[in-house]
Amino acid sequence: MAMAGLQATAQDFPSRPITMVMPYAPGGPGDTITRLFAGAMQKQLGQQIVVDNTAGASGSIGTAKVARSKADGYTLLMIHVSHATNTAMYKNLPYHPVDDFEPIGRATIGPMLIVARNDFPAKDLKDWLAYVKANAPKISLAHAGVGSASHLCGLMMMNALNVKFNEIPYKGTGPALTDLMGGQVDLMCDQTSGTVPSVKADKIKAYAAVGKSRLSGLPDLPAISEAGVQGFDITISFGLYAPKGTPKPVMDQLTTALQKSVTDPDVRQRLEAMGVSAVPPDMARPEALRAHLKYEMDSLNSLLTKAGVKAN
Ligand code: MLT
Repeated sequence: MAMAGLQATAQDFPSRPITMVMPYAPGGPGDTITRLFAGAMQKQLGQQIVVDNTAGASGSIGTAKVARSKADGYTLLMIHVSHATNTAMYKNLPYHPVDDFEPIGRATIGPMLIVARNDFPAKDLKDWLAYVKANAPKISLAHAGVGSASHLCGLMMMNALNVKFNEIPYKGTGPALTDLMGGQVDLMCDQTSGTVPSVKADKIKAYAAVGKSRLSGLPDLPAISEAGVQGFDITISFGLYAPKGTPKPVMDQLTTALQKSVTDPDVRQRLEAMGVSAVPPDMARPEALRAHLKYEMDSLNSLLTKAGVKAN
C-alpha cells in the first residue's frame, strides 16, 4: 500500500511547492547559491521552490531536518563541505551523511578569499602577513561555526601561518560579513559569492585569494601562494540531496532539473559575477556528488580528527 502510494505520488511529481533547505543563515554564500538554483529549478519543474534557512550548528540542524523529512522529493537539502566534516566534528549527529540521503548532483565550485575589516592595519599581503604573525592572539577571525567552509579555511590559514586567532562563530557568513563590514570583527576566510561584491563596493578589504590562482573578478589581488605560503588551498562545492528512499522517478526529475539549471546562461553568468562556477552537467549527477562527498570525508575528516578539532 505504502509503495503504491509513493509510486502514485512519484507520477504526479511535483504537484505542490518544494522546500529547499539551506542550513546556513540568510545573506551568505549558501543562501545566495540556493536561491539561484531554487529559481532555476522551479522554472524546469513548473512548481514553486521555497528556500528554508534552518541555520545553526554548522548546518547540522537543517541537515537533520531534511533527514527526518518524508522521502517524496518535496524537501531537499543544498549543502557543501560541512555535510562531510560535521561527522568528524559533532559527537551525536542525528543523521548519517551517506546512509540518510540520496545525492541528486553537484551544483557549483568556488574559491575562497582572505578578507578584513576596511580599517585593518595592513596595506597589502606582505604587510598583512607580518602584522598577523606579530599580533595573532589579538585578532578575531569570524566563521560560520565549527565544520563550516569558513572555519575550515580559517583552520588551514592558521595552520599555514602557524598562528592562532581568536575565533568568533556565527550561524553563517552572512551575519559574519555584516559584522566584518561594521568593524566588530577583524578577519574572515570566506567564499567569493558575498566577499567579491563587498570588496568591489569598498566595504571590506581583500588580501589574497586562497590557493595558487588569482580570481578573474579581482585580477590585481595576489594568490596566497605568491607570498610563499604553500599548501593552503581549498575550494567549496555545493550539492543537492534528497532524503534516503526518495523514489527513482522523482530523483530522475530532480537530477534533470539540476542539470538544466547548471547550463542556464543566467545562472552561469550570475555565478561568474560572484567568482563561482556552475559545474558541467555530467557533474550535476548523483554519482558525481556521491564521489565528491566520499573524497571530502576521506581527505578532510582524518585531518580534522588528527588536529583534534571537535564541536562537542
Ligand atoms: C554560509 O552560507 O553561510 C556559508 O556557506 C557558511 C560557511 O560554510 O562558511
